[in-house]
Amino acid sequence: MAGIDVHGGSSAPSEPLPRLRLVLAVSLDGRLAPAGGGAAQLGGRGDRRALEEALAWADAVLVGAETLRLHGSTCLIHQSDLLEGRTAAGRQPQPVAVAVSRSGRFPPHLPFFRQPLERWLLAPPASPAATGPVLAGFRRRLSLESWGVALAGLAAAGLEHLVVLGGAVLAADLLAADRVQELQLTLCPRLLGGQHTWLPGAGPLPGAGAWRLLESRSLGGDELLLRYGRADDQRASAVGP
Ligand SMILES: NC(=O)c1ccc[n+]([C@@H]2O[C@H](COP(=O)([O-])OP(=O)(O)OC[C@H]3O[C@@H](n4cnc5c(N)ncnc54)[C@H](OP(=O)(O)O)[C@@H]3O)[C@@H](O)[C@H]2O)c1
Repeated sequence: MAGIDVHGGSSAPSEPLPRLRLVLAVSLDGRLAPAGGGAAQLGGRGDRRALEEALAWADAVLVGAETLRLHGSTCLIHQSDLLEGRTAAGRQPQPVAVAVSRSGRFPPHLPFFRQPLERWLLAPPASPAATGPVLAGFRRRLSLESWGVALAGLAAAGLEHLVVLGGAVLAADLLAADRVQELQLTLCPRLLGGQHTWLPGAGPLPGAGAWRLLESRSLGGDELLLRYGRADDQRASAVGP
């Protein structure tokens, strides 16, 4: 299907913005990937269930291009109760996958392009990814002029609940822009060392000290789920897992 190019407006958004939940599996020393880099596989079975529950809550996921290039695909909901719940609610089985990229470098052989979901592209204006026809495999392309405008565009398209799947560059960018309402971290019983912290090179952040615990749960396999919400977010306690 030919892609549709949707340009965000330049004015400040008046739409309510989507709710963003950053979902990551991290080591005890705060790494999201092994010291040598590459595609991280940190979580066990309990983490997989927690991830799929978050996907079941989501209308869309935001995923950095490097994570897609390294993993080749995005996470899907496989568990039948979660799929049935979405179908019963009249929702698509899988959330929309919104890939974020400046380069537009997506090898066409990636399994991502054969996954049974809708793919959208979010790209800064005038970047290679935003220039020319919409890349094959993507249904829509939206402009990442600023996070406020881009998120308003996603909300206007009906995407209210977004899971941010990482990686660290995308997560850090969204946190620096103060756009994340929830942090869902699975602590995995490993020490990885190396430079791949889940919040790399961050200077002072707007949300410093402003988080409160919404949920803590043992996932089995020595994994612990921690979900924090913005302390100043009135909706936080009303939002379930
Ligand atoms: N443990 C976990 O839960 C978890 C989850 C996800 C990923 N990971 C790991 O994280 C690593 C990959 O993460 P990463 O931090 O290297 O990369 P990443 O955040 O996945 O992707 C970075 C890329 O995303 C695009 N991007 C991000 N923010 C952008 C913005 N504001 N505007 C335009 N483009 C933007 C750019 O793509 P272009 O280069 O195309 O311009 C950028 O180079 C892998 O090791 C992966 O396994 C772990």
